[in-house]
Amino acid sequence: MEQYIIKGGNPLVGEVDINGAKNAALGILAAAIMTDSTVLIENLPDVNDINVMLEAMSQIGVKVERVTSHAALISSKGINGVSVDYEYIKKIRASYYLLGALLGKYKEAEVPLPGGCNIGSRPIDLHLKGFRALGAEVSIRNGSICAKAEHLHGAHIFLDTVSVGATINIMMAACMAEGRTIIENAAREPHVVDVANFLSSMGANIRGAGTDVIRIRGVERLHSTEYSIIPDQIEAGTYMFAAAATHGDVLVKNLIPKHMEAISAKLIEMGCQVDTFDNAIRISCKGRLNGTNVKTLPYPGYPTDMQPQISVALSMAQGTSIVTESIFENRFKYMDELARMGAMVKVEGNTAIITGVDALTGARISAPDLRAGAALVLAGLAAEGITVIDDISYIQRGYENFDGKLRELGAQIERISTEKEAQKFRLKVS
Ligand code: EPZ
Repeated sequence: MEQYIIKGGNPLVGEVDINGAKNAALGILAAAIMTDSTVLIENLPDVNDINVMLEAMSQIGVKVERVTSHAALISSKGINGVSVDYEYIKKIRASYYLLGALLGKYKEAEVPLPGGCNIGSRPIDLHLKGFRALGAEVSIRNGSICAKAEHLHGAHIFLDTVSVGATINIMMAACMAEGRTIIENAAREPHVVDVANFLSSMGANIRGAGTDVIRIRGVERLHSTEYSIIPDQIEAGTYMFAAAATHGDVLVKNLIPKHMEAISAKLIEMGCQVDTFDNAIRISCKGRLNGTNVKTLPYPGYPTDMQPQISVALSMAQGTSIVTESIFENRFKYMDELARMGAMVKVEGNTAIITGVDALTGARISAPDLRAGAALVLAGLAAEGITVIDDISYIQRGYENFDGKLRELGAQIERISTEKEAQKFRLKVS
C-alpha cells in the first residue's frame, strides 16, 4: 500500500499549474454519450476517478480513445447496453451521472444505487424525483435504479436542497425531453455551468446555468463537439491553502479567479496577501495566520470540499475558530487525525471548534477521504518533523501528481510503498 512520507516545516515557494476540474469532467464524460457522433474532450485531469469513469463507459460499449493523458475521444455509437456495473459505482458515486445521460438519450437506464460514503449518507432522492417529473418510471430493483420512459417531457422541478448531482443529472435527462424544463433552486457551482456549456456546445438549449433557475428546451439530437474543461476550483484552493499553512509564497496558475472568491476572501481574513491576476492568484503569508469562522455553503459560498484545508490552516492560527459544515454530516472524521498531530479541536455535531496551536508535530495518520486526505498532507507539510499518511489512494482519486507538484514548490514529500523507501527518505532529509 502506498503512503506519503513528508518532512514538514518548509514554506512552499514557486508556481503551480492547475489541471482540469474533476467534478466537471465526471459530468461531461457522462454527457458525451448523449450524441452518436464523436466528441473530443480536452483538459481532462489524469486522476483515478476519471479513469474509472472512462472504464465504466467502456463497459457499456462506449469507445474511449485516450488521445493524450489529458484528452479523450468519446464515441457512443456502438453502445451495447444501458446497464452500468456495480464495480464502477462502488468506486465512484459520480458514475450515477450515466443514469441521467442514458435516460436522456436512450430513455432507459439501469445503474446500481450508490451506498453511503465516508463523508455522509448522500441520498439521491432529488435525482429520482427529477426523473419521475420528466415522465420516467423509476424503481429500485436488486440494488439498482431502473429508469425507463416511453418518452420524456419537460417539467417544472423544484429541488428541495441545492444539489450539484441532481442539477446535473436532471439537466442531462431534460436535454432531449419534449418541451421545456425548469429546474428551480438549481446548484450554481462552476462545474454545473461547465456541464451546461458542454451540453450547449453539442446543441442543447440550456439557459440560466450559474443561476438558481435553469431552463432547458428539449432538442431532438445532440451533435459532435470539441470541448476543454474548466480548471479545478478545489485543486487550486488546496494549493492556495498549502501556501497559507506553510507561510509560503505561491503563484497558483491556470485558474478562474471568479471561482476562487470565497476562498480568497477567507485567506485575506486570515492575514494572507492575495494578489489576483487574469488567470492566476498569488498567495503569500508571513507571520502567524489569524483565526476566523467559516460555514460551508453551496456556491458562491465557501465550498464544503475546501473545509478540511481551511481547518488545517486554522489549527495553527491565532485564537479560536469555528468551522460549521452544513452540507455533509460526516466531514470531520479527519479531526481525530489532526488531533494526533497536536491540533486542539473539539467537534460538536456539525461544528468544529479549533483553538490554534503554535505548531503541529508529525505523526502517522490516515486519509479518511479525498479532501480530508489532501488537507492532512498540508498539515504534514506545515508540521515539525516527519508525517506518514496511509490510504493515499483517496487523494489520488482527485489530485493529479499531487506529490510531484508539491515537490516543485519545495516540499519534502515522497510516495513510498516499503519501509526501505521510508528509511531512504528519512536519511535524505535528516
Ligand atoms: C458534489 O457531490 C461533488 N461531487 C462533491 O465533491 C461535493 O462535495 C458536493 O457536490 C458539494 O459541493 C461531484 O461533483 C462528483 P450534492 P454531490 O448533491 O453532487 C443532499 C469531492 O471531494 N442531497 O450537491 O453528491 C446531500 O446529502 C466530492 O470532489 C439530498 O438530500 O453533492 C448534501 O447534503 C465529495 N438528496 C447536499 O444535498 C439528493 O438527491 C448537497 O449534495 C442529493 C443531494
